Amino acid sequence: MPKRRDILAIVLIVLPWTLLITVWHQSAINPLLAARKDDRHESRRDSQNTFTLKKPCSSENNKDIVEVVHTEYVYSRPPPWSDVIPTLHVITPTYSRPVQKAELTRLANTFLHVPNLHWILVEDSQRRTPLLTRLLRETSLNYTHLNVETPRNYKLRGDTRDPRIPRGTMQRNLALRWLRETFSSNNRHSQPGIVYFADDDNTYSLELFEEMRSTRKVSVWPVAFVGGLRYESPQVNTLGKVYGWKTVFDPHRPFAIDMAGFAVNLRLILFKPQAYFKLRGVKGGYQESSLLRELVTLNDLEPKAANCTKVLVWHTRTEKPVLVNEGKKGFTDSNVEI
Ligand SMILES: *[C@@H]1O[C@H](CO)[C@@H](O)[C@H](O)[C@H]1NC(C)=O
Repeated sequence: MPKRRDILAIVLIVLPWTLLITVWHQSAINPLLAARKDDRHESRRDSQNTFTLKKPCSSENNKDIVEVVHTEYVYSRPPPWSDVIPTLHVITPTYSRPVQKAELTRLANTFLHVPNLHWILVEDSQRRTPLLTRLLRETSLNYTHLNVETPRNYKLRGDTRDPRIPRGTMQRNLALRWLRETFSSNNRHSQPGIVYFADDDNTYSLELFEEMRSTRKVSVWPVAFVGGLRYESPQVNTLGKVYGWKTVFDPHRPFAIDMAGFAVNLRLILFKPQAYFKLRGVKGGYQESSLLRELVTLNDLEPKAANCTKVLVWHTRTEKPVLVNEGKKGFTDSNVEI
């Protein structure tokens, strides 16, 4: 029976080889698994570190595995805080929409770089939503989470009966009230502060926050992609004083400035408790003026961003087409980088 013998021969040849290969394979994989287990253990131990970068394969017996790098990312870096610099109270009104979480995540990532920042997030909703509660908790920022729902007939969406009441007004006013109630009577919180209104659809340079930190009353600067222009700006004379506004839309407004273009010292907010954004009877674009005229005069304004020659904040959800500032009276912006 030659056939049977052949089969036996093949089995006898193949079997030892199979065993040999299996053993080889096992001995190559086991140290690797052991090393991984070790490493996971260690990175948990020092999870205080932002990054844990380990090379587990340093032992001599598996030199052939050249690069197995196990990284574990543990986010636990608190934003910097100092007792000697003013706190920035940044007020952001927000409302539910598909891009809300994305916008607020982007904003939080910016704020994480800013020392002494206190984020006051005010939802236009009946109650504080779990989405934002979670988002705020996970940022490790200092924050206050508030909510107030704009009555239906004031909203621009759905009901356009009174389009002169802009979105976010009630939310910003609630934040102002919160600041007054929190800081007026409480001396423990006497650290100097600056108040800034940062909508969630703009882009902010980190430099902007350091510019505004030295605000004595109200500081101002240019804002890009607003009012149909590449940028709007306060006009500053050679003495470094604001005397007017580079805008196309109604430059005769008392304060022809965008919400993102000014910051107010907290002391001034506390000192003028009647100053709020007007809810009713405010024409489009007069929202900012309705607050600022209660606080300062044109002469009090402090130009920042190199006497308003630098753009440090951009409207990034612009609906109108953007015009070039040149060619119109008083607009010479060819040197301004945007
Ligand atoms: C702004 O202008 C004033 C007056 O010309 C000048 O004294 C000041 O140094 C300028 N500031 C900056 C930051 O350029």
